[in-house]
Amino acid sequence: MLQLNKVSKSFKQNGEVFQAVSDISFFVKEGEFVSLLGPSGCGKSTVLKMIAGLEKADTGSEILLQNNPIKKPVPEQMMVFQEAALFPWLTVFENVAFGLKSAGKLSKKEVEETASYYLAMVHMSKFIHHYPHQLSGGMKQRVSIARALALDPKILLMDEPFSALDEQTRLILHGELEEIVMKTKKSVVFVTHNIREAVTLSDRILTFSTRPGQIKEEFSIQMSRPRVMTQELLYIENKILEVLREEIEKVMKNEIDDAYEFKSRTFSDSAVDDMGSGI
Ligand SMILES: Nc1ncnc2c1ncn2[C@@H]1O[C@H](COP(=O)(O)OP(=O)(O)OP(=O)(O)O)[C@@H](O)[C@H]1O
Ligand SMILES: [Mg+2]
Repeated sequence: MLQLNKVSKSFKQNGEVFQAVSDISFFVKEGEFVSLLGPSGCGKSTVLKMIAGLEKADTGSEILLQNNPIKKPVPEQMMVFQEAALFPWLTVFENVAFGLKSAGKLSKKEVEETASYYLAMVHMSKFIHHYPHQLSGGMKQRVSIARALALDPKILLMDEPFSALDEQTRLILHGELEEIVMKTKKSVVFVTHNIREAVTLSDRILTFSTRPGQIKEEFSIQMSRPRVMTQELLYIENKILEVLREEIEKVMKNEIDDAYEFKSRTFSDSAVDDMGSGI
């Protein structure tokens, strides 16, 4: 469904060419949930923006969605950002209906039905007349997810959608996203710093190395949903942490102190509530 072949991206920074990501190749199957996990600055958002058509990949790169090259942002590939980018002057309902109306394919009644359906899916039916400033962070993200789903994208692109939320809300939204994925069977590319979030949600996790970002290792998680924390998931978490340890240390040495040493923690069963698995 989605295929990246040797995708690279360089930016001009202060007159110099800066290689953000290099030679990224991966695929996402129909209905698959793939996470990109890696240290800050390794190019995760850049990869997602290229898939969304918001950034242009370097010459020689190929990004195909259902065998068609991605050239610009279209409803086929919808992005959900870290900060819910809702229109503050529109209500919850109007925010979700906006894109549907603009697409001009549906009647007024169909727009209403579609917006209501997806707002119900994210448990926001009671808040359709609220304005964004009247919502909590978690509610705003629910609306963003409904807005993206309403356009029936082929693939949903999520860039750390829950990282600004408190841990309780984040856990609740993990469960809700899991349900949505089971129900809609959408393919998802999900960017996160959080190892637990990645293992809870993903079918596959691609770990990234530091600049220029490259795929370091791939982890496949074949566990049924809804998922609960099991020894098997904890084991995978620890393996990922070990792989990323070197990368985190490189970033910290570069940004903070050459003598920085990453103190490797391991996750234990008692840490079920510990969401401090961000990297
Ligand atoms: N538009 C741009 N112009 C110049 N440099 C950019 C641009 N966008 C990203 N970069 C650089 O590319 C690198 C990768 O950035 P990116 O935002 O993709 O990283 P990231 O992995 O998403 O990081 P984080 O986890 O902190 O969000 C960074 O060094 C960043 O400064
Ligand atoms: Mg980012």
